[in-house]
Amino acid sequence: MEAMDFTVASADTGCQEPPNTLVDWALEILSTADPDEKARLGDLAASRWLRGDIPLPYDPSRPARPPPDRPARSAEVRLLPPSRMPKLGKGGSAQSRLAMLHSLAHTESWAVDLSWDIVARFGAAMRMPRDFFDDFARVAQDEGRHYTVLSARLRELGSHYGALPAHDGLWDSAMRTSHSLLARLAVEHCVHEARGLDVLPTTISRFRAGGDEQTARLLEDIIYPEEVTHCSAGVRWFRYLCLRSHGNHPTSCSVPGLEPRSSGLPGDGTADGKTAREAEGEPTPKLAKDVRGDDKMVQQVEDELPSRIAQDANGRSKVTEHVEDGLAKCKLDDSIEKYEELVIRTFHRVVREYFRGPLKPPFNTEARKAAGFEPAWYEPLAVKEACIEGETIE
Ligand SMILES: [Fe+2]
Ligand SMILES: [Fe+2]
Repeated sequence: MEAMDFTVASADTGCQEPPNTLVDWALEILSTADPDEKARLGDLAASRWLRGDIPLPYDPSRPARPPPDRPARSAEVRLLPPSRMPKLGKGGSAQSRLAMLHSLAHTESWAVDLSWDIVARFGAAMRMPRDFFDDFARVAQDEGRHYTVLSARLRELGSHYGALPAHDGLWDSAMRTSHSLLARLAVEHCVHEARGLDVLPTTISRFRAGGDEQTARLLEDIIYPEEVTHCSAGVRWFRYLCLRSHGNHPTSCSVPGLEPRSSGLPGDGTADGKTAREAEGEPTPKLAKDVRGDDKMVQQVEDELPSRIAQDANGRSKVTEHVEDGLAKCKLDDSIEKYEELVIRTFHRVVREYFRGPLKPPFNTEARKAAGFEPAWYEPLAVKEACIEGETIE
């Protein structure tokens, strides 16, 4: 039966063979317009990857195909610019709750694309370690499940995904960070995921107050706890990239609880023990105390941008050499702690550059903390509210 599940409708090749690598799967999913099929394929790909049935995250011997600028979307879902979207309301009527549910399903389907896009766009180009693929395969699987349960709930309520118009601005923000993994992680996988954690409790209470306990429970029991782990993945990989750019060991401290598995890929960040031992005793790069430290870190990371990667004759990139060089200099000690301040300053700089406007309080401090997203990361990016003559302005 499972062979049937391989079916991947490839628009340009008509190929019915399963993709070979996780990145190939990601590309197929991004090219799949039907949202149910997109979620189904994503679940299949993630399950296979996490079981070890897809041996390679990407094929280092051939250049990666770029992902589409915009993922395929169903023509049955009418997309409107944000300014033309009807107001959702506050859940006080059945119509408003249906609009809220439709909007949530749309956001989740978009999140499926976003999760596979980071895998396809940056995974190979940035020679990310296997744990990166594990994390975002899990995130993608979760997002697909969220979409599936919410669209099923829409049907139970006599509607369906596509019955209402949907916000066309969601991918624009992703496009602005399509050239930088550091910016993508900061904006989409930290700021936006954390914003979801801020607003979800209010959304849940609106469904509950409106008498839709079933939707409230879906959001509260399934979606909310999993969204915490998504924000956590964003923070974890942002920190990893910063530390890697400073030649520090990426996996020993930045991916807690995950055992590095050598993929056998060049420069995949899962340094073998020999390399790490060889590096012991070598000087750890000094923490840059000057104000230019965060600029330098951003530059170092962005120097690894896909567009600048020059593949040599053996298919090994200059990035690979850079990363391996960094790993060779790494030292397995507690020096990572010293870098936290610099990582956070880098985060502030990247968010200020790529995210429009201040972050909006109030923050769900507890959920953010559970994700490892401490106030030092985001509070300086918020503009405090000021009250003038009874009016709240931001
Ligand atoms: Fe989600
Ligand atoms: Fe999420």
